[in-house]
Amino acid sequence: MAIHLRSAEELEKMHRAGLIVHQVLTELRAMVRPGLSTMDLEKFAESKLAGQPGRAAFKGYRGYPCVLCTSVNSEIVHGIPSPKRKLREGEIVSIDFGMEVDGYFADSAVTVPVGQITPELQKLLDVTRESLDRAIDKMRPGNRLGDVGHAVQSWAEQNGYSVVREFVGHGIGTKMHDEPNLPNYGDAGRGARLQEGMVIAVEPMVNAGSPQVRMRDEWVAETADGQPSAHFEHTVAVTANGPWILTRPKEMTGSSW
Ligand code: MF3
Ligand code: CO
Repeated sequence: MAIHLRSAEELEKMHRAGLIVHQVLTELRAMVRPGLSTMDLEKFAESKLAGQPGRAAFKGYRGYPCVLCTSVNSEIVHGIPSPKRKLREGEIVSIDFGMEVDGYFADSAVTVPVGQITPELQKLLDVTRESLDRAIDKMRPGNRLGDVGHAVQSWAEQNGYSVVREFVGHGIGTKMHDEPNLPNYGDAGRGARLQEGMVIAVEPMVNAGSPQVRMRDEWVAETADGQPSAHFEHTVAVTANGPWILTRPKEMTGSSW
């Protein structure tokens, strides 16, 4: 199966979905504070969707119950919002959100500090976001998929962290998960060649400790050693002018989140 190449018109459609995703995540990020529950974030996101075109991409996907994934501390991905899970000062929460508008998808995530966090946790967030920046910078025609994964892995590991193997970035377009898979590790110069029009959700998941994953239940993936994990994601198109981050406004430049 081939990797889809999207036309300029299709990319604009994905960007429409991506701008809604960005707006909602930006508001959620600003809301995060001690005492708020992860279900409060879910309810806010749901309320923002009323009156928007399209629909939330995750709810109902393989039976997933919510519009957001909210993964706290040692939870890596797919944490399920709950009214019982109140955020506490010093924690970190990954908020992951996707939209489908007019048949096209966009997917993004940001990990947010709850109140004041330790310098150690801040470094984990910074390095993970930087690994996304570095990966995005490799999303250029002629580069290879391995260059992108290698950018994440090398930056994470140079900083003493590890990358998760069990979950990967993914092609995205008229489906949320499409070809190719994009592991957060890899060898520079290896793998499929990137071409104009390819769109990939790049999503480093970086663990402070070991890379091992434990499934707490059908959905929630957490670190086996209980140490924290961070997650940042953008939907990124390969264009002749370089990477185009579809999950934020065009005029935004600089660090990805
Ligand atoms: N951003 C996640 C991903 O890329 C969202 C999937 S959550 C699900 O896989 F609930 F929809 F599965
Ligand atoms: Co994704």
